[in-house]
Amino acid sequence: MDRFEIRGGNRLAGRLTIKGSKNAALPMMAAGLLTDQPFVLRDIPDLADINNMVRLLGELGCQVSRQSADDIESPGGVFTLRAVDESISHARYDIVRTMRASICVLGPMLARRGYARVSLPGGCSIGERPVDIHLRGLSALGADITLDQGDIIARVPKVHGKPGRLKGTRVFLGGPFGSTVLGTANVMSAATLAEGTTVIECAACEPEIVDLANLLNAMGAKITGQGSPRITIEGVKELGAVDHRIIADRIEAGTYMCAAAITAGDITLDNCPVDALMAHMDRLHHMGVTMQWDAKADPMRASCRITATRGLKPIEVTTQPHPGFPTDLQAQLMAVLCLAEGNSVITERIFTERFLHVAELSRMGAQLYRQGSTVIVSGVRKLTPAPVMASDLRASASLILAGLAAEGPGPTVINRVYHLDRGYEKMELRLQSLGAEVQRISERDEATLAPGVA
Ligand code: EPZ
Repeated sequence: MDRFEIRGGNRLAGRLTIKGSKNAALPMMAAGLLTDQPFVLRDIPDLADINNMVRLLGELGCQVSRQSADDIESPGGVFTLRAVDESISHARYDIVRTMRASICVLGPMLARRGYARVSLPGGCSIGERPVDIHLRGLSALGADITLDQGDIIARVPKVHGKPGRLKGTRVFLGGPFGSTVLGTANVMSAATLAEGTTVIECAACEPEIVDLANLLNAMGAKITGQGSPRITIEGVKELGAVDHRIIADRIEAGTYMCAAAITAGDITLDNCPVDALMAHMDRLHHMGVTMQWDAKADPMRASCRITATRGLKPIEVTTQPHPGFPTDLQAQLMAVLCLAEGNSVITERIFTERFLHVAELSRMGAQLYRQGSTVIVSGVRKLTPAPVMASDLRASASLILAGLAAEGPGPTVINRVYHLDRGYEKMELRLQSLGAEVQRISERDEATLAPGVA
């Protein structure tokens, strides 16, 4: 297992191009199952989760290829897919357990093939993560859904012995924590091929859903209202070929904004989706971070300069569905607030247990007091290096940010960075290009360095 060693204290400066969005890419790759025509996505990042999805789609009868971009400054590579054998419709536990987003294949496979068997994803380190709303939505469209040996089995009932279609209807996708992003992706994708009109109420408004709807429309779907809580889908009989460039990754961009903030740095992000980051940028602005971009540029692909000085101000922040502050940036902002001048309050309202980074940040000298889904962050003058353990994707990023600012003897050692590789492409190289002292130590390197080993 790889680990990172970071010697903190450097002020980061320079320029980076934001990669294509992981969370847009995953449901969009699954949407390739909705057609047997050529399907091309551009700006696909080189990440472990993307590789898992490529493998899964290969197992589901698709010819898939992924060409990665060699240049670390490119926003990503090209993914192509063609469904050639539509009879293999089982997403096995072996793959689903490595990546929960495998659930995205359920809606497309069901709508196009009339049958899908998808292993029920288990919980993960950020919480329980049920998929009941996905299933409720698909059954409202007429699917028969049962559970067998841990697998969801979804079928479109036959009509007089012939393959049937899902039926458009009004579907409510709200749950105890608001809407569901991947649930909206599943139901919206399935409804494109349903008979009649589907109206999704309490749909997720995330930019990744807007991009998915735009992709589906480019394939011939008739979707309106994406980006609002009511999405209308007029079903069509089939979808065709597409070549689509995906949006930039707002969470990667938000993380590098935090890197500028925590190191009192000066970083310019190209291909930066400022329009999708307003809540995060509002919080950074209140902390005293300066962000500048050209108001005439495409607000989803702007060049944004982030500059910060020491002595950031404390703030309050509550995670919410988009356009509120994203849960996927909570851990990273917490790392920055550890060094603010005063007490901050962070409340997590999407995944109320998503706080595994709290104990690890405390090992680096952070003063954090958790009560239920709220953490009081009492700013300290400095963080100190320590060995820490990454527990999930965004928690890993948070520890790296803390490591960039930690000052003292010895490095910060972050173990289990495989979590990071699920969502941040070549983060160590990107941080090095900004002046950070970060090394990836892999087990292979250690075997070579060990005495007596050739
Ligand atoms: C997506 O997960 C993202 N994953 C997550 O990103 C992100 O944290 C999350 O949305 C919230 O923004 C991908 O896009 C691949 P949800 P998703 O369904 O869709 C509850 C990252 O770090 N819920 O919107 O699975 C759920 O428990 C990740 O990149 C139900 O109760 O999340 C949570 O409290 C991790 N029943 C809330 O809704 C359901 O059927 C929102 O979850 C579904 C969800």
